[in-house]
Amino acid sequence: MQFSEFGDKFTGQSGIVELMEDLGEALTVNPDMIFMGGGNPARIPAAESLFQKHLRAIVENPIEFNRLVGVYQSPKGDPSFCEDLADYLNRSQGWNLSAKNIAIANGSQSAFFIIANMLAGRSAQGAQTLHLPLSPEYLGYADSGLSANFFTATKPNIELLDKQLFKYHVDFNQLSLPATTNALCVSRPTNPTGNVLSDEELEHLSAIAADQNIPFIIDGAYGVPFPDINFVAATPRWDNNTVLMLSLSKLGLPGIRGGIVIANEEFIHAFTNANTIISLACSTVGPMLAQSLIRSGDLDYLTQHIVKPYYQDSAAHITATLHRELKGLPYRIHKPEGAIFVWVWFEDLPITSRELYERCKAQGLLVVPGENFFIGIDDDWTHKHQCLRISHAQSKEVIDQGIAILAREAKALYR
Ligand SMILES: Cc1ncc(COP(=O)(O)O)c(C=O)c1O
Repeated sequence: MQFSEFGDKFTGQSGIVELMEDLGEALTVNPDMIFMGGGNPARIPAAESLFQKHLRAIVENPIEFNRLVGVYQSPKGDPSFCEDLADYLNRSQGWNLSAKNIAIANGSQSAFFIIANMLAGRSAQGAQTLHLPLSPEYLGYADSGLSANFFTATKPNIELLDKQLFKYHVDFNQLSLPATTNALCVSRPTNPTGNVLSDEELEHLSAIAADQNIPFIIDGAYGVPFPDINFVAATPRWDNNTVLMLSLSKLGLPGIRGGIVIANEEFIHAFTNANTIISLACSTVGPMLAQSLIRSGDLDYLTQHIVKPYYQDSAAHITATLHRELKGLPYRIHKPEGAIFVWVWFEDLPITSRELYERCKAQGLLVVPGENFFIGIDDDWTHKHQCLRISHAQSKEVIDQGIAILAREAKALYR
């Protein structure tokens, strides 16, 4: 069989495919493996009962049930949901959106794929690229381009903090956009680091994008207004030049594939056309459940009283456990400001983080090696090989067991 260029690129091995296969295989070989690797949200019983209550009401009402399973949603998403969401965002954030600023997608991953390829790749103006102002960034972006050389990136400024912490900042002195740049993109809070770009950083990036007349993509999969897994103050940002991506996944609903794009009307129209060709229509489950959560007021309760406190607590727990277990080693933890991960940096690591990941895996712990997150940074910066992403979307007992394994493996290296 002869594949096309697309076939060759998308059916071959890539960082994310290899890693997901490896994680999947490790779990098959050892079902007792401690899983602190993937991006799955935690199982939170109070959130599950709320989802069950709302879904039950939908399923038990024949008209609503028909809307749920028997009707194609309109290409950009059910208009009544888009209106409710626009009202909700206007009320809670003071924005000035209409339903025309909103489109639905089958998960924000597939929305990103479309948006990234709408903006970067071959074009009448020549090759265009996306710039990541602060890499490490979300691994799921890395292989999304239909063509090669899709991303450029700027290394962060590293601030060393007390108590074995550190923090990445956008290095505006080094940030220079190649002439091919056709959008800026950040996740906030950031996967993999748990960093939250400050309001000033966002403002500055937004001004740069506006000045260059290119869109500013803000991936809010963990951000405001939902699921709001932010532990520091962060003002949500949207304007006509922003493409804000939201997701229902990290509320605890990754299985229903609910993604949302908020942008100016022209952009939403273009996105909808592309998404219709690719998906025909989106799943109705996410929008109907989210609409029910918004109308009842339960969405705010869910984010503020269930989801955010859960991860705030698990982040504090894993940080304290790491400090206790890694004491005496040359490690630092990225200041945990949001999302569901901690990012641990082992300075002067005698092996690569990939090798450390392999050793932990052999002992029954899955984490994610940092190398693949440094998208767009092609030089051999040693820092790229010294970091691990560890999910804390697990019970405290599991976190304790996992960190004990990591500490054993790390201590053996520095002996
Ligand atoms: C930063 C970020 N963006 C987007 C996604 C994709 O989420 P989904 O496709 O489930 O909406 C993820 C998933 O882990 C993520 O971490």
